Amino acid sequence: MHTELTGTTAGTCHMPPVLVPQPDDPRPLRSAFGRFTTGVTIVTTQTPKGPLGITANSFSSVSLDPPLVIWGIGRHSSRFAAFAECEHFAIHVLAVEQHDLCWRFARSGHDFTGVDLAYSNEGAPLLPGALARFECRTANRFTGGDHEMLLGQVLRMTSREGEPMVFSAGRYRLFAPDA
Ligand SMILES: Cc1cc2nc3c(=O)[nH]c(=O)nc-3n(C[C@H](O)[C@H](O)[C@H](O)COP(=O)(O)O)c2cc1C
Repeated sequence: MHTELTGTTAGTCHMPPVLVPQPDDPRPLRSAFGRFTTGVTIVTTQTPKGPLGITANSFSSVSLDPPLVIWGIGRHSSRFAAFAECEHFAIHVLAVEQHDLCWRFARSGHDFTGVDLAYSNEGAPLLPGALARFECRTANRFTGGDHEMLLGQVLRMTSREGEPMVFSAGRYRLFAPDA
């Protein structure tokens, strides 16, 4: 049950209702979070079972000096332990033509079929074709509720021109350049 704090004015002003997050129904909170439009990344790391990847849009740049980025791995993911404990990882900012990788690494983490993998000096799996790629050392970790946040020190990066994959309100969207 979601409590409307401004229920009376909501109808007259055409304002959306103000809700309080409810632990027993995360859908409205997830929906509100999803209004923040993001790019999409694939994060990779090496494990004893081979290369592992995951689709993640929690990525954000943090600091230029020192060079830091952050992303979060969900505690309920089958890939949680591998990423929460990894020492090195690589973040790939997806181009629009890489949307198949987004869905592939949302489903499962070990399927690199047809991907021409390379490896960083530290052993992190590197995917070709990304708009930007950040080879990272885990600089810090902290628990953020049901996610573990990984702060990465950027050791090396690549960057190229191209159209980004865009995710908003739970869907893949087309980027409208110069709109
Ligand atoms: C666009 C998109 C963004 C996602 N972002 C994250 C994220 O930032 N962190 C995360 O832990 N899972 C994220 N996920 C979910 C994971 O990719 C994956 O589906 C989830 O961890 C379940 O994996 P499992 O089946 O191995 O348990 C995202 C999925 C999609 C489609």
